[in-house]
Formats: sequence, structure tokens, C-alpha cells
Amino acid sequence: MPAVGGIGPGTGKAYPGNLTPFVTVTCIVAAMGGLIFGYDIGISGGVTTMTPFLKKFFRSVWEKKEADKSKNQYCQYDSQTLTMFTSSLYLAALLSSIVASTVTRRLGRKLSMLFGGLLFFAGALINGFAKAVWMLIVGRLLLGFGIGFANQSVPLYLSEMAPYRFRGALNIGFQLSITIGILIANVLNYFFAKIKGGWGWRLSLGGAMVPALIITIGSLVLPDTPNSMIERGQTEEAKAKLKRIRGVDDVEEEFRDLVAASETSKLIEHPWRNLLQRKYRPHLTMAILIPFFQQLTGINVIMFYAPVLFSTIGFKDDNALMSAVITGVVNVGATVVSIYGVDKWGRRFLFLEGGVQMLICQAVVAACIGAKFGINGNPGDLPKWYAIVVVLFICIYVAGFAWSWGPLGWLVPSEIFPLEIRSAAQSINVSVNMLFTFAVAQVFLTMLCHLKFGLFLFFAFFVLIMSVFVYYFLPETKGIPIEEMGQVWKTHWYWSRFVEDVDYPNGGMEMGKGGQGIKDV
Ligand code: BGC
Repeated sequence: MPAVGGIGPGTGKAYPGNLTPFVTVTCIVAAMGGLIFGYDIGISGGVTTMTPFLKKFFRSVWEKKEADKSKNQYCQYDSQTLTMFTSSLYLAALLSSIVASTVTRRLGRKLSMLFGGLLFFAGALINGFAKAVWMLIVGRLLLGFGIGFANQSVPLYLSEMAPYRFRGALNIGFQLSITIGILIANVLNYFFAKIKGGWGWRLSLGGAMVPALIITIGSLVLPDTPNSMIERGQTEEAKAKLKRIRGVDDVEEEFRDLVAASETSKLIEHPWRNLLQRKYRPHLTMAILIPFFQQLTGINVIMFYAPVLFSTIGFKDDNALMSAVITGVVNVGATVVSIYGVDKWGRRFLFLEGGVQMLICQAVVAACIGAKFGINGNPGDLPKWYAIVVVLFICIYVAGFAWSWGPLGWLVPSEIFPLEIRSAAQSINVSVNMLFTFAVAQVFLTMLCHLKFGLFLFFAFFVLIMSVFVYYFLPETKGIPIEEMGQVWKTHWYWSRFVEDVDYPNGGMEMGKGGQGIKDV
């Protein structure tokens, strides 16, 4: 049996290319596409704890919270309309990422980013001026459509642009922007919540127009990826672009592989149906399980509801927002660690280390909350040290996520799909991610109310399962050119059985033998 995790022998290819200023700047600009997603994640949790916002749009939640002061803390925020506000966005993102698949493939990655920026801008505008709940929801649907487009296209764009040896680091720029977006949103919430007159929430929501403008302008000035240009028939321009991006003249081998990948890709008539072929089983499995597991780490309980969670465990509103800022800083810092390490230590190491770290922290937080709140949710007086311990372990948990499942949940799918299914498979990745972000956001407050501290054990259980999954089923993808990725499945103890009879002409491309949807070559 080949090694667990199937670290392949490498493909023997080493395309020349440098980390040129051109590619670096391009990737930084593109990665800013993550800001809109992050800003929204951070903003929604914060505004839902702002009293004027609650009073205006979700009066019943506010009244319940006021009345409930000394009773069951676990249930004070449990309201379906309030969660609908947070989670409606994710359903919209789910739908739009499917449309984005076609736009990204046929019209290029840039256009999807442009749509993403424009839709997000419209949503932010409506939200900032919202007068009724329906305006909030319409605004959030538009934001969601924007996020679907951006999350579908930006990670692909980055993985295609980057020289393969730096692909991990450059791709994680996307996650870094997500975390910066979350942090900025948390800081703004903290200050806007203090605005006298209680209209600070309008600034929080409307402020999303700024990151929207950044990605909109970015998408207009960015170059298209050579892969996408070849895919759309601009072969000569693509070669010149590739030389510019790699900073060397000798791009023949990489260029030939890109063209070959594109030729194969053109033979595919039904990218969606194609995904069901046996030889794409490893890819399909990862496109579904990686985002599913990413959300089942429970991270968004912290991201959306950190202020709610912290006030539940006894912090005053202001302190609760402040603690959200602290977790935000940790999130950004730990993402930088993964940028540093991902192409050195590899993906599997980060996944596994992060998993163990999260597991331990979830158990400790469950024990702390359980010990103080018991099952009736009435804590009495909470000592200061107790709050500090909880925040500390939540921070260590966030760090574990931020250098493992956070960035890798976007990086790994974007680098393992062959071109012919890349866009469709990436849409599945985004849709599944959004579906479970929605599910977690929608049921979290109810789960907290019913499972109480056991909620943290629920997520801990999944962290255990996903770590075992990574150990046995996820091959290492560090340092392998993306058009060569087929090799990692071929040498894997389990996945090889699905791709055994797949040829690798062109050095690494998977070409089916008479599979359906693919014409004879
Ligand atoms: C996830 C988000 C999460 C964020 C936290 C992202 O990778 O997809 O759901 O809120 O990381 O930093």
C-alpha cells in the first residue's frame, strides 16, 4: 500500500518562473476579492447585538433579551427571523455560484469578479438605507449573489496565476483578505455601536460599499489568466501573458501543458454531468467534503456570533464586541503563519495540526461553559479569570482554524481540479460551503439553546472525523503544478483505484478512455 495520504513521487516537472512583482501585485489585488466576504461575516454578527438595530427591525428579540436578563442565558437570542437575516445571504451565494461557473468558464474569471463587486455594491447600498426588514433581506440577497461570484472566481484565478511553488502562499491571500475583512468589520462595529442617535448600524452595513468598490475596480484592471485566455481561444496573447507573469522567456513546457489541458477541456460537453464519471470521484468527493468539513469546524459560530456568544457567557455588550475584535486579530495573524508555512510544511501537516488544536480547545471551552452555566443556563456571578480562560481558548481555537481549514478549505479545491471540470467543481465547493454556512448560521442559536455547552462537543466530534479523513484520504498537493495534479491520485492508496485506467498524456492531464461526455481524442 502506498503511503497513507499518498504523497506522490512528484511529476518530475519544474516549470521555470519567478515570483515576479507583476504576479505578486496581481495576486494581491485579486485576493482582495475576499474582503467582501469577510466584511460581511464580521458585520452581521455585530449589528445583531446593537440595540437600536434590534429595536428597529427585530423588536421581539430585543424585548425578550430585555425581559430575560437573569434567566436562561443560552436562549436569549434564539429567534428565527434574526438568524434568517444572517443566513439568507448564504442561500443567495449558493445559487449565484452555480451561475458563476458558466460565466467563469465562458467569459473568464475577471468578469465573474466584476459581477461579484457590482452585486455586492448594490446590496450594501440598499442595506445602508434600509427602512424595513424586507429591504434588509433584499440587500442581503444581493450581497450573497456578489459573494457567490467572487468566491467562485477569485480562488481559481489565484491558483492559475501563481507559479506552482508559491501557489499556496499566493492563494491564501484570499483567506487573508477574508480575515482582514472580518477584523475591519469588527473594529468598525465596535466604534459605530457607540454613535449617539443609534444609526451606527447604517454605517456598518453601508460600509460594505468600500470593499465592493475595491474588487470592482480590481477586476477591471487585472489581467486574465493564461489558462482562461487559452480556454477562450486567445492562444497567442496567452503565451505572451504567461511570459510576462512568469518573468522568463522559456515558458514552452508550461504553455504546452496549458494548451493540452484546454484541448481536453473543450472535448467535454457537459462539465456537470462529467463530474459524475468514475475518474472524477476523488475530485467530487473533495469538492463536497472539504467545504462541508470546513463549516463543521464550527468556526462561524465564533465569526457570526462572537459578540452574542461573549455576551451570553456574561460579558457586557461593549466587552463582547471588544472580544470579537481580539479573535479577529488572532484570525489574521494565524493566517499569515499559514502563508509562511503552506508551501514549506505542506497542506496535510497544517490540516492535522490545526485539527488537534481545535479539538482540544473545543473540549476545554465546553468544560468551562458547562461548569459555570450548567444546564439551566444561569451562571450567577462570573469571575474575571473565567472569562479570560474562555476567550483564551477560543483564540487558540481560532488560530488553529486560521492556519488550517480556513485557508486550505479554499486553496485545496482550487488546485486539485483538472481544467475540464475546474469551474463546475469549484461551484460545487462554493455551494456546499454556503449551504453549510447557512445551516450553521440558521441553527446555531437554537442549538445553543438546546444543546447548551454540548454544542462545542458536537463540533469537536466533527473535527475528529475530518482529521481522520485528511489523514487517510487527502494527498499532499504542495509543490505540484496544477495541470500535473492527476498524479497524486494515481499514487494514492485509495484513490488510485478510480483513476488507474486513466492516461496521462501531456505529462499530467487526465484524459478519459471513452468516458461519456468526452469524444475520442
Ligand atoms: C470560511 C468562512 C469563515 C472564515 C473565517 C473562511 O475560510 O469559509 O466561513 O467565516 O474563513 O476566517
